Amino acid sequence: MIQKVASRAGWKSADLAQTESWFHRLSNEAIADFETAMRTAIASEKEMFDLDVRDFPLGEAGNAALRCVHDATQEGLGVMVLRGFPVQKHAPAHLRLLFWGLGLHMGVPRPQGKQSQFMSDVTDAGGVYRSAKGRGYNTRSKLDFHADNADIVGLMCVNAAMSGGESLIASSVHAHNVMLEERPDLVASMYEPFVFSRQGEEAPEEEPWYESPIFSVTDGQFACRHVRNHINGAQAAFPDVARLSAQQTEALDLFDAILARDDVRFAMHLEAGDLQFLNNHTQLHSRTEYEDWPEPERRRLLYRIWLAIPDAQPLAPGLRPTYKDVSTRAVRGGFRGVGITEATRAFETRMAAHHGMAMRIYG
Ligand SMILES: [Fe+2]
Repeated sequence: MIQKVASRAGWKSADLAQTESWFHRLSNEAIADFETAMRTAIASEKEMFDLDVRDFPLGEAGNAALRCVHDATQEGLGVMVLRGFPVQKHAPAHLRLLFWGLGLHMGVPRPQGKQSQFMSDVTDAGGVYRSAKGRGYNTRSKLDFHADNADIVGLMCVNAAMSGGESLIASSVHAHNVMLEERPDLVASMYEPFVFSRQGEEAPEEEPWYESPIFSVTDGQFACRHVRNHINGAQAAFPDVARLSAQQTEALDLFDAILARDDVRFAMHLEAGDLQFLNNHTQLHSRTEYEDWPEPERRRLLYRIWLAIPDAQPLAPGLRPTYKDVSTRAVRGGFRGVGITEATRAFETRMAAHHGMAMRIYG
């Protein structure tokens, strides 16, 4: 029996419009703390995968800001924006390093694509979203609502677009509940497996597609992993996989339509200096199309990190093909890609040990 999900993460847009509890303005002390951590890491002259939490020392205020992200994403609304880091005072490479360090404090960074990049530059690199190998982050297209493949996705906004490029978020918990109310007959199919394409970004040992449910409940905790672009990608690229039934297509169309409603989705203008964090299991994200600045140095630029965190919720066994490990206190998620090396594995193992997490994803 499918039930309505009760959770603080099940907000509707009016709820976010009426509260400021989804953002936190960084105090001067927290900013100073982050800057000290950044300078210490720069002075260490270490490479990305050799850096450690100790290379980014944080004081009370910096740790409190990260705790705020943790609590909001895990027990609160599922979203937190840390606002007001003075990005214009610092070189982009240094900001990137700082964001990496904040990620190390929170969990184990996950690879994000074909090149197994553990940090992505979200900027217009001329990618084509609606193609067999399309991903959203390197285009300027409007994106569908989707979840990334990690417990938390973080964005650091260095430059906002000239126009457009608004960050759109929607609670998958609330959208699930709306769907259950309107079409209980269609919700059940969302708990069954769908075929997702890896968009040509699979590792040599991986299949190019996999099956996972969109909705699941594990130990009373709801999770949604929805990526319509990858479901459509599987239908287009793999004639051997089962065709979507009329009911599945109707369910997907309805869910996408609910997510796009003004009373469901919430539009947030990310400013330079904003750090946005989302719980991918309860939140979906998207963005509007954008127009960029003509000057290359002003182009829209965000750094993106994906994290597995120690006390994230357990996930359903059916999500194993997606996350590789579904237990709590385990490294999971990410797009493995073709760039995993001994150095990146050693890094993941070291970070897993630091956070007391199991590391079973490579079999
Ligand atoms: Fe995404």
